[in-house]
Amino acid sequence: MFYSYKEQIANLSEHLHLRTIKSIDKKDNKYIYINGEKLINLSSNNYLGFADNKDITEEFLDYAGDRFPFGSASARLLTGNLPVYNELEELISLIFQKEKTLLFNSGYHANVGINSSLAGRGDVIFSDKLNHASIIDGMKLSGAKFFRYPHNNMEALEKLLIRERRNFNNAIIVSESVFSMDGDITDIAKLVELKEKYNCLLTLDEAHAFGVFGKNGLGISEQFGLTDKIDLIIGTFGKAIGSMGAFATGSETLINYLINKARSFIFSTALPPVNIAFTKWIIENKLTCTFEKRMNMLNLGRKAGSQSHIIPLIVGDNKETINACDILYRSGYFTLPIRPPTVPEGTSRIRISLTTDITEKELFDAISLVKQTK
Ligand SMILES: Cc1ncc(COP(=O)(O)O)c(C=O)c1O
Repeated sequence: MFYSYKEQIANLSEHLHLRTIKSIDKKDNKYIYINGEKLINLSSNNYLGFADNKDITEEFLDYAGDRFPFGSASARLLTGNLPVYNELEELISLIFQKEKTLLFNSGYHANVGINSSLAGRGDVIFSDKLNHASIIDGMKLSGAKFFRYPHNNMEALEKLLIRERRNFNNAIIVSESVFSMDGDITDIAKLVELKEKYNCLLTLDEAHAFGVFGKNGLGISEQFGLTDKIDLIIGTFGKAIGSMGAFATGSETLINYLINKARSFIFSTALPPVNIAFTKWIIENKLTCTFEKRMNMLNLGRKAGSQSHIIPLIVGDNKETINACDILYRSGYFTLPIRPPTVPEGTSRIRISLTTDITEKELFDAISLVKQTK
């Protein structure tokens, strides 16, 4: 059956799956302004409040002056490199105690580039069923065989490893650490055990944990004291760091391999130097003083029944989820209805993500409003 683009859009609309870009007037700290209304933003990845913060922007500009251009004009491997890129890479290697780091333009670029290049024909990838779309896209591009094991189910993963590992050359286990739509945390110690037992590489996407978990904000790998056991740690700068871009950190061999093979790195203009400088400045100067705030935020998440600062309120039905968001909106809270294909069919939800400024009262008032809609 052939459907025209127009029919496909109509179909999405009919099933309440149509995505549209919202008009947002401005954002500042925990508030978002839409159509002249000021709402508490419960859908932000700006977990530590570094993005959209006037004081931080001014402080950074005082420091940076006009030293960092707004465009790189080239890919890193051509002329798009300056000392600040290497400095940020060295900083990441240092804090993670890894041999080498590579910057990517976003977490999406990182996951597509890494998963499509580390495995190829004759290799295999074992991926958590709820891993992010960027990981899935990378696996699809790789030409490798991939298996998606049931979410966080280590027994099922081990069964797969027993059955399949010996049929392939290189094998990779890939997981998020804090799952983006569910807020739960993978069993990282077990993943390390399995990767060692079955001779696999382990890559961990710390997109939602970098900047939030661990004494120094390095993520779940730091929290569990396992940074040295994970072959490749991936983190994004677009969430808790309040900037843009991503990194992969690991052995010199793996990073040199990615520099040569990860097409999303090779064939794209590097991020602006000013952006790289901002990321580096935040990590060096601001991240270190957030420990208490981060712990309070995580405690609040736990009080609300989550393992992290991401709290999924599963409604189920698309229409009811949209309705619950409307009710929250009218009560001064901005949330988003998360629907398939982002989450599995029948599990539409409101994904609350905390930021350090959200109070306990604000959170629980919002949760009780959603419960009343059921
Ligand atoms: C788990 C995970 N990985 C990667 C990404 C992509 O990161 P970025 O927004 O930097 O492209 C996201 C973003 O939503 C994510 O949730």
